[in-house]
Amino acid sequence: MTTRVAILISGGGSNMIKLVESMVGDHPARPVLVGSNDPEAGGLAKAAALGVPVMAVDHRPFKGDRPAFEAVLQARLEEAAPDVICLAGFMRVLTEGFVRRWEGRMLNIHPSLLPKYKGLHTHARALEAGETEAGCSVHLVTPALDDGPILGQAVVPILEGDTPDTLAARVLVQEHRLYPAVLERFVRGNLTPLQLS
Ligand code: GRF
Repeated sequence: MTTRVAILISGGGSNMIKLVESMVGDHPARPVLVGSNDPEAGGLAKAAALGVPVMAVDHRPFKGDRPAFEAVLQARLEEAAPDVICLAGFMRVLTEGFVRRWEGRMLNIHPSLLPKYKGLHTHARALEAGETEAGCSVHLVTPALDDGPILGQAVVPILEGDTPDTLAARVLVQEHRLYPAVLERFVRGNLTPLQLS
């Protein structure tokens, strides 16, 4: 039985592309939808070019009414009937109700070595704190932000003269390796944390 995967993005979608490109051959999953809260998200056109159905539910008209936004998002997701959701640079914080509905089958990638630096501006905060290493984490999504069980991490060194941008670029390379590797393990039922170096 093929596992159906939906990917939610808010921006350019570089992680989404790596996930889609990984689900080929004997991979047990296939992408069935790429969705966004921003109809202008650059990743939507890239997903369509890869032959994946796309959709967008603009969050702005909902003026902060998250349950109302999520009700429409949920209905669009149900049309594609995914088994698993991958958040890949999806920048809307989801309500507990929405997360509980997908609990145990919704993954997220976060650009820090969780539990350190939950939230935003992870690279600037790691540099300010004088860290010697940084990285990224793939975790199961739970109601608390960036808090769910970790399924994989990749570590990178922080180098002399690093800026948030140079560090982000080095971490992104590892994100593109980590997320596809963790997704394949996950859909094969292997939830033991993966450590990439
Ligand atoms: C990534 O760094 C991801 O960790 C973070 O948002 C960024 C999205 O990048 N949550 P992209 O849209 O996948 O290129």
